[in-house]
Amino acid sequence: MISIEDYIRDIQDFPKMGVVFKDITPLLANHLAIERCLELLLEKVGDEKIDKVVGIESRGFFFGMLLAQKLNAGFVPIRKPGKLPYETHKEPYLLEYGMDVLEMHEDAIKKGERILIHDDVLATGGTARAACNLVKKCGGEIVQCNFIMQIDFLCGNEKLKSYDVASVLNY
Ligand code: PRP
Ligand code: MG
Repeated sequence: MISIEDYIRDIQDFPKMGVVFKDITPLLANHLAIERCLELLLEKVGDEKIDKVVGIESRGFFFGMLLAQKLNAGFVPIRKPGKLPYETHKEPYLLEYGMDVLEMHEDAIKKGERILIHDDVLATGGTARAACNLVKKCGGEIVQCNFIMQIDFLCGNEKLKSYDVASVLNY
């Protein structure tokens, strides 16, 4: 049985000094690792009915789309500013230095739809919380926020207290 940890590579001092970057490109490059990771993410969702999977640009798109296909759900991209062509809801979030904004199309989710939010990493939680706020603006019901990995010491789950948070790997 494949261990997906073996396909996540630590890159020291990227994107800047002192940061250890969790690189998922070896995982994306191996079809058995992709299959295993997808299977583990699906186990986290369990039997829940999902109408839409929301994937966060950019690394949340890879498995977000695969999850949507397996769950017989639609896929909704949350994107960085200025990328989406139609009317958007906008949500600012905190970066280590300064703020950024995430956007989602206003008509991407209908009131009451059951939503799975997916991203590769839960770090400080700012990104995922902004995604939750965008989904709530449309009246979506957040069933779960799931991640390939969670960086425990950054306590991102504190920002997602009202949601079911699930990660395949904890660091
Ligand atoms: C990374 C990662 C998560 C987010 C987690 O994305 O893919 O989306 O940071 O950080 P947080 O929990 O502290 O908010 P990044 O913004 O680097 O962009 P990318 O996915 O386009 O590489
Ligand atoms: Mg990201």
